[in-house]
Amino acid sequence: MSAADPVRVLHLTDPHLFADMQGDLRGTVTYASLARVLAAYRAGDWPADAVVVTGDLIQDDSAEAYAHFAELLGGLGLPVYCVPGNHDIHALMRESLPQPPFYFCNTLESGNWLLAGIDSCVSGAAGGRVSAEELDRLDRVIAATPAEHVMVCLHHPPVTMGSKWLDSVGMENGDEVLQRFHASGKVRIAIFGHVHQNYDADHGGARIIATPSTCRQFLPGSDEFAVDDNPPAYRRISLYTDGRFEHELVWVSDEPVY
Ligand SMILES: [Fe+2]
Repeated sequence: MSAADPVRVLHLTDPHLFADMQGDLRGTVTYASLARVLAAYRAGDWPADAVVVTGDLIQDDSAEAYAHFAELLGGLGLPVYCVPGNHDIHALMRESLPQPPFYFCNTLESGNWLLAGIDSCVSGAAGGRVSAEELDRLDRVIAATPAEHVMVCLHHPPVTMGSKWLDSVGMENGDEVLQRFHASGKVRIAIFGHVHQNYDADHGGARIIATPSTCRQFLPGSDEFAVDDNPPAYRRISLYTDGRFEHELVWVSDEPVY
C-alpha cells in the first residue's frame, strides 16, 4: 500500500448463522447467503485490507454456528474485526474467535485512521446501550492514537430509523454516544448493523452508516416488524489519509455468482 492508497474496509453484518447449515432466517438460508456474499466480494476486484463485522454473527446460541463463521471468514485471509450484537453470546463469541485473524471489540490503526470496535449490547435485551465504561474506553483509545481520523464500529444505531418497532429496540443513549463522537473531534464515521437495511446520514459532522445484512432485510420505515425482498449485501469503505472517505453499498443478487 502506498501513502496515497486508501485503507479498504469490507463491512459485513448480521449473518445470523445456525449450527445447521440449512438453517434459515425467515426463508433465507443464512450460511449459503453469507457464502454468496463472500463469493461476490471475491469476484469484485476490490481487495480489502480488513473486514469489519458488526454483530449478530449467530442466531441459535451455538458454538457450531461460530465455527461456521470462523471457517467462512477465515478463508478471506484478512483480519476480521468483530463486535457483538444482541443475538451473540459474549463469552461463547470470545471463546470461539480467540485469536487472529479474529479480533473482538478491538482497534486497528492504519493510514492515519483508527478503527475502533465498541460493545453496544445489554445482557438479555434486544435494544442496546453503550455503557459509561465502554464510552470511556473509546475516549482512551482515541486519545492514545496518533491517527487523526476515527471510524467507530458497533451493532446498534446511535440514531433513530423512523421505524417504530426497530426504534423500540434501538439504542437507549444514542444522543450521548453521538455527543461523545463529536467531542472527540476525530470520529468521522460510525458503521453499524442491527437494522438490516441501508442507512447513510450526516449527524453533526459524523457519517452514520448501516449496511444491510448478509441475509434477510427488514422493511424500511415500517411501524410493525416486516421483512422485504432486498437481497443480501456488503459495503466497500475506502479511507484516505486526509480524512476523506468513499463508500459503496453492493447488493448481491440471487443470481449465482460462483
Ligand atoms: Fe440482526
